[in-house]
Amino acid sequence: MARSSSRTRWGIISTGHIAGKFAEALQILPEAELYAVASRTQEKADAFARRYGFQHAYGTYRALAEDPEVEAVYIGTPHVFHLENAVMCMRAGKAVLCEKALTIHAGETEEMIRVAREENVFLMEAMIPPHVPLVKKILQWIRSGRIGEVRIFSASRCIRRDFSPEARQLKLELGGGSLLDVGVYPISFASMIFEQPPMEAYGVATFGQQKTDEQGAALLKYEDGAVANLTFALRTEAVNDAYIYGSDGFIHIDEIFAVPERATLYDKNKQIVEVLEEPITGNALNYEAEEVMWCLREGLKESPHMPLHRSLEVMRIMDRIRKPWGLIYPNDDR
Ligand SMILES: NC(=O)c1ccc[n+]([C@@H]2O[C@H](COP(=O)([O-])OP(=O)(O)OC[C@H]3O[C@@H](n4cnc5c(N)ncnc54)[C@H](OP(=O)(O)O)[C@@H]3O)[C@@H](O)[C@H]2O)c1
Repeated sequence: MARSSSRTRWGIISTGHIAGKFAEALQILPEAELYAVASRTQEKADAFARRYGFQHAYGTYRALAEDPEVEAVYIGTPHVFHLENAVMCMRAGKAVLCEKALTIHAGETEEMIRVAREENVFLMEAMIPPHVPLVKKILQWIRSGRIGEVRIFSASRCIRRDFSPEARQLKLELGGGSLLDVGVYPISFASMIFEQPPMEAYGVATFGQQKTDEQGAALLKYEDGAVANLTFALRTEAVNDAYIYGSDGFIHIDEIFAVPERATLYDKNKQIVEVLEEPITGNALNYEAEEVMWCLREGLKESPHMPLHRSLEVMRIMDRIRKPWGLIYPNDDR
């Protein structure tokens, strides 16, 4: 789609929790135009548009996809609908920012990427960490050899909420469970650090009454011997920090490691060498929106900071570790 103004005209698909957060994120970005929102019901779309200041409200997702004025679409539906929603928008020529986990399984991610390339449109998984300024600095520490060779990554993304039985997080038919909802963060962070697929990937999970994985752990091993030790949960609070251990020192990222504001570099004698502090601006979803708009201005079809091959690798890891669990999502057999 040709860009006709300096502002990007955004459309949002869905009116749930994170869609509202993304609308708030757009509100603080002068280069973003809050153009349209779509819901499965016109009433919800109207209410969302009024609340956040969108110009148009649609009662079907298709109507938003078919609006020729929409340039970029943010998809905030449950995991099982991401592929269908993203394909519909990309076939209509839209740039797409789709929530994590990008899809239910790697086969769906492959299909999503194939459509993006066929249509020559921009596609990115809405994964915040790679766009956080402090994370970029931590990566510079690693890449410039400040901790030597990276050997161990250890991280936790656990939340404790009293979800109702109706919550999408606990519903298998909506792609619920801790792996896709929160486990994706440390796994994606590991892929960003190690920049290669693991040779070995194992996982364990504990299932709740609704047959979704409510907590779990993943162990990854890379070709050079580096390992990752990752935990994730929906009903257990934890200190959600991370450690990156190298041959010459280590980095501690304060919680929440995925949206950090403080990181400390230690030498191999556990002495502090440097502390980085940088506050998050907005609610951090603005970093993703800024990345999309920068990529569109540059004519890029994918983000160099959150490339599609990483999203695919993460889905393949999640497929591998859940296979022995017997965890099967509704559209697993596509
Ligand atoms: N980046 C982050 O920090 C973050 C945080 C939370 C969640 N997420 C991701 O965002 C996505 C949505 O999560 P959420 O917490 O916002 O979920 P949510 O509050 O349940 O909202 C999901 C929305 O999807 C739409 N939807 C379409 N079909 C649906 C169906 N059959 N059942 C329920 N909703 C349906 C609904 O909007 P309409 O009724 O308007 O159509 C609903 O409001 C997930 O992929 C999740 O992993 C990301």
